[in-house]
Amino acid sequence: MPFEDDIKSLLKDFNTELQKSGTKESLENLKNTYLGRKGKLSGLLGTLKDFSKDEKARYGKLANEVKAEMAKEFLEKQQHTAGGGSGFFDVTEPGKSQKLGHLHPYTKMREEVNHILYSMGFQILDGEEITSDYYCFESLNIPKGHPARDAWDTFYIEQKRNKNEELVLRTHTSSMQVAIMENQKPPLQTVVLGKCYRNEATDASHEHSFYQIEGFVVDETISVANMVSTLKQLLSAVFKEDVNVRLRPGFFPFVEPGYEMDMSCLNCKGEGCKVCKQSGWVELLGCGMIHPNVFKCAGYEPGKYTGYAFGVGFDRLTMMRYKIPDIRLFNSGDLRFIHQF
Ligand code: PHE
Repeated sequence: MPFEDDIKSLLKDFNTELQKSGTKESLENLKNTYLGRKGKLSGLLGTLKDFSKDEKARYGKLANEVKAEMAKEFLEKQQHTAGGGSGFFDVTEPGKSQKLGHLHPYTKMREEVNHILYSMGFQILDGEEITSDYYCFESLNIPKGHPARDAWDTFYIEQKRNKNEELVLRTHTSSMQVAIMENQKPPLQTVVLGKCYRNEATDASHEHSFYQIEGFVVDETISVANMVSTLKQLLSAVFKEDVNVRLRPGFFPFVEPGYEMDMSCLNCKGEGCKVCKQSGWVELLGCGMIHPNVFKCAGYEPGKYTGYAFGVGFDRLTMMRYKIPDIRLFNSGDLRFIHQF
């Protein structure tokens, strides 16, 4: 049976050569030699025409089986040959790392601070960034022409609200004090964390757009002692260590008495270093007891309530927390900065 012998030895040769082929190129050659259009198998099939009908059917079937087997073996070998695989997937290869996005330092800090304030019992609001001259200045005891307006110079909007209400971009979140007090009666324990705007020449510690945290607490017996202990607790939670504070007199028209609060320098623990200019203290925030004129604007019964307010630069806190040297980095869009968080 020459055809049967021929095809069996063809399969045997194919298998021997397949064993020896170790590269993509040798496999390609082997495929052409045996399975190609002018290859050995085709050549053998060409001889079928000389056989009888019965033999043709039998040998044809046999040839097809051999062809299928060759193709299968070839595919298997190809998949296990470096660079030759079509669908081969090596599960042991190290994967390609995916670049993930992450939160901006503002967002991280904001989430943390919100959590702390919330756990201390504050309601947290953000309020309107475009507000009236009244809420931003007048209601805070800063009448038109008062020199204190210079320190809070902002962007004025030509358009008016309700025909005659002059609009400004809020220069501090204190602008929400009276707006909130008009709608809520004491006891009040509120924080406004949001964006503020100032007509400011920018430098490493000043931006025209920044964030502030305004806090105010109003009830019948609120004192400076409550303010100091709450702020000490808040700052210690933010910086995750025991923080010391001290008060110095400070002028803000909407508080009386008014203070500047300093915090013990975290860098040198109060010993004196470059960060605190050798003083052991860093200036941090403005605070004080809410002025009676502010309560008057809120419509609160005169003399009934006392309260304190404080205002702290949220950017400043974030910079101290993450040791960021320049406020302008936050909105710079510089990926070298942002990738560090
Ligand atoms: N709003 C003040 C500022 O922007 C800070 C402050 C808030 C001071 C509340 C006293 C009380 O500088």
